[in-house]
Amino acid sequence: MLDILSFFIISGLIFIVVTVTMPTTPDLFMIIAFLFLIIPTVVALIQGAPFVPTPMKAAKKLINISGIKKGDKVIDIGCGDGRLVYLAAKEKEADSTGFELSPLVYALAKIRQLLWKSKAKIKFGDFRMFDLSTCDFIVCYMLPETLNNFVPKFEKDMKKGAKIVSYAFQISRWKPVSIIASDPGEAISRIYIYEIGKQYKN
Ligand SMILES: C[S@@+](CC[C@H](N)C(=O)[O-])C[C@H]1O[C@@H](n2cnc3c(N)ncnc32)[C@H](O)[C@@H]1O
Repeated sequence: MLDILSFFIISGLIFIVVTVTMPTTPDLFMIIAFLFLIIPTVVALIQGAPFVPTPMKAAKKLINISGIKKGDKVIDIGCGDGRLVYLAAKEKEADSTGFELSPLVYALAKIRQLLWKSKAKIKFGDFRMFDLSTCDFIVCYMLPETLNNFVPKFEKDMKKGAKIVSYAFQISRWKPVSIIASDPGEAISRIYIYEIGKQYKN
């Protein structure tokens, strides 16, 4: 509820600032562009994480070391251009789904899906609106503060034994079951794996 409220407040503020500072009265096209493209993109930036893709080398490593098996349900909670879910589907034959809040980035993911010829599903929207109870793995590349904000959703929805594999950033409230450091000369960040049921610090 708070998210929806803050979405409308932020959207309203952006719209007012742009309308007031525009030299001419906005036409219908501008209004539609704002409502459907620019506002949700800015809100995604403010509320979630900016679109910065996991380096491909790191994405491949993440998928390979995560323990994902054929048929596992894998979710990327902010999929960007879709690379993690496409890799999970291609390399592990996982049943993978990516959520993306920013319409422009979502469009990019859909274009990349054609290039990858991927069977992974890409859904537009805030992943918090969706049920995570059947998922076996969450893969993500999100800022630490954002990850901590998502903890109540993970705790409420996710089943025991399900894993969260996070590139570069830790969930500071939780204890990882493993930390995968980069190999010498690899120049990628660490990967943190959390398991529901084993996540609490003593
Ligand atoms: C740092 S990028 C990572 C992209 C991709 N997972 C990767 O590893 O290459 C984070 C993405 O998450 C999206 N995002 C942030 N919060 C979200 C939310 N609540 N629901 C869906 N997408 C979200 C952002 O729009 C951004 O594209």
